[in-house]
Amino acid sequence: MERSLILLKPDAVQRRLMGKLISRFEEKGLNFVAMKLIRITPELSKQHYAEHAEKAWYPTLETFITGGPVLAAVVEGLDAIQVVRGMLGATNGLQAAPGTIRGDFSSSRQMNLVHGSDGPDAASREIALYFKPEELVEDEPTITKWMRAADE
Ligand code: CDP
Ligand code: MG
Repeated sequence: MERSLILLKPDAVQRRLMGKLISRFEEKGLNFVAMKLIRITPELSKQHYAEHAEKAWYPTLETFITGGPVLAAVVEGLDAIQVVRGMLGATNGLQAAPGTIRGDFSSSRQMNLVHGSDGPDAASREIALYFKPEELVEDEPTITKWMRAADE
């Protein structure tokens, strides 16, 4: 099992898409193990986007991501990191394939609605940035036996 950090970015919250986006992850079979509404500070933005902090476009990203409430969540599932990235689609909504979240809902390079961790190291680092260990709720849903075979 893998865990991935998801952020429903301020554009998703403002556009009243939270419920629809949460539903997509639920319907796929991912389990939510943590969730909270937060306001990202400039400091947290710089930590989260450390790999981009020196880029010319970083200041506008920081303005965007700190500009309104964000829903931070952790989802769990088999290959959850790659599954979430596939569901998001390409970074730029104009290039993301139809059927993906960004392809269906975004027409922007920046305002692409959802963040998902891009690998196991990023997932561990990002989950720790947003959640304390005790905020992650351990549970094995009883429906699992109807979601996949026992040997998967
Ligand atoms: O989110 P993802 O991993 O697909 O993309 P990224 O290349 O790691 O960039 C992180 C985020 O920065 C993107 O999701 C966009 O919201 C934003 N971004 C931007 O504002 N301007 C760019 N030229 C590229 C990305
Ligand atoms: Mg990235």
